[in-house]
Amino acid sequence: MQRLIEADAIEARVREMASEIEAAYPKGAEIHLVGVLKGGFLFMADLIRAMSARVTLDFIAVSSYAQSKKSSGEVRMLKDLDSGLEGRNVIIVEDIVDTGLTLTYLQDILRARAPKTLRTACLLSKPSRRVVDVTVEYIGFTIEDRFVVGYGLDYAEKYRNLKYIAVLDQE
Ligand code: IMP
Ligand code: MG
Repeated sequence: MQRLIEADAIEARVREMASEIEAAYPKGAEIHLVGVLKGGFLFMADLIRAMSARVTLDFIAVSSYAQSKKSSGEVRMLKDLDSGLEGRNVIIVEDIVDTGLTLTYLQDILRARAPKTLRTACLLSKPSRRVVDVTVEYIGFTIEDRFVVGYGLDYAEKYRNLKYIAVLDQE
């Protein structure tokens, strides 16, 4: 396993992203973060602790078939949100945008719930893998087409607890 992004670099970038996000909303605005389970949980935890604004949060869980042989971009909802989004400033918090199919699905279903604003924050992006043009306002790091684990991201449910992001050797 080869380290790609060290823990201190992640920490610094997440702090920057928190400031960038807060600066983009009017002072005093409430921001409602929607974390995508499971991969986004550590990013969410660090992001909210770096924010000073009034934030609330919720979680949604989806399973994506994007990496299997099914290339239809089918996404299945495993756990829906606990509360509604109407009139709220919503930010989707996701670990990585790869093909973009998962986020496109999420943005579509959340937009249908009439939030006041809807934006997306991803710690990582692999632009070379994109199959749909999805808008992500906040991106932590842009990476090459390598399979990465750590800091919430898994391979077969393992490695989520690493403090850094690493490239998994697949040979
Ligand atoms: P997309 O729908 O192809 O954009 O896939 C997004 C989802 O695939 C992410 O939420 C991750 O769960 C997973 N994923 C994509 N690339 C990686 C990776 O390199 N490591 C771990 N999970 C990944
Ligand atoms: Mg995910």
